[in-house]
Formats: sequence, C-alpha cells, structure tokens
Amino acid sequence: MTDYGLLAKQIKSLAEDEPHYIPVLSNASAVLYENMKDLNWAGFYLMNKGSLMLGPFQGKVACIRIEVGKGVCGTAVAEDKTLLVEDVHQFPGHIACDGASNSEIVVPIHSGGKIVGVLDIDSPSLSRFDGKDKNGLEEFVKVLEEVTDFSGVEV
Ligand code: SME
Repeated sequence: MTDYGLLAKQIKSLAEDEPHYIPVLSNASAVLYENMKDLNWAGFYLMNKGSLMLGPFQGKVACIRIEVGKGVCGTAVAEDKTLLVEDVHQFPGHIACDGASNSEIVVPIHSGGKIVGVLDIDSPSLSRFDGKDKNGLEEFVKVLEEVTDFSGVEV
C-alpha cells in the first residue's frame, strides 16, 4: 500500500522552496506515478477560463480540454466530489485518452473557496483503487491545497 502521508510530506518540503503550482504539481505527479503500482497516467487538469485544461502529468499524451460536467474529470468538478470509477467503460461519457485505462480516480482541488483543478489517476487494471486510496489521495490533495500557490490559475 502506498504511504500517501509520506508522499505528502515530500511535496510539502519541496513546496517550501517554491510554492508555484507548476513545479509543485509536476513533482506531485512524479511522486505519485513512481510510488503507486499499476498506473498508466497520473496528473492534473487545471481550471482555465471555465473549463479544465491539461496540467503537469506523467504518462501518455492526453486530451487538452475537458468541459465541466463531461468525462470523469468534468463530472468530479460539477459534483465537487471524489469519483472512484472501478470500470471506466461503465461510466457514461468517460473520455478515453489512453485506451489502456480501465479504472480511474479523480479528486477535486480547491483554493480560495473555488475548484482550481483535479488530480486524475488512471490504471490499466479494473478496480485498481479502493477506499484506502480514496482517503489517502484526499489527504494528499488537502496538503497540496495548503502548500501550493494557485493564484496564477485562471479559474
Ligand atoms: N478519463 C478522463 C480524461 C482524462 S485522461 O484519463 C488522462 C475523463 O473521463 O475525464
């Protein structure tokens, strides 16, 4: 099991040197991708003028824009909650960026009372993520929200 608390500590100390969202989220995607088993994509979509735009990530080339309410990412924003999808092929409107993805978890990120983006993690295995991953990743995102400067994001 991934020690999400330890990964959050690592990101917190990196953000103390530079809190700008580009380096913090770039390192966050690297740390998650390296330390979680069985993934094919880990990264961020950031709000940009009313829709989600591709942010720092690890994995294959991905879609650039996702409208709020569309796909797993846009639905997580519209509903402002974590979405844990055991089989993406059963999720109405799932956006297949990488055909290898079979399960996915998306956690909204907040700053100044607004959603500034989402953490999105994909796996080639069905049901890769469980409640422990959900809790761990929500804690990880809470730390990101505390230590990251999102002021440059054009919500
Ligand atoms: N599957 C996502 C799109 C982003 S990729 O997984 C990187 C969705 O349905 O929103």
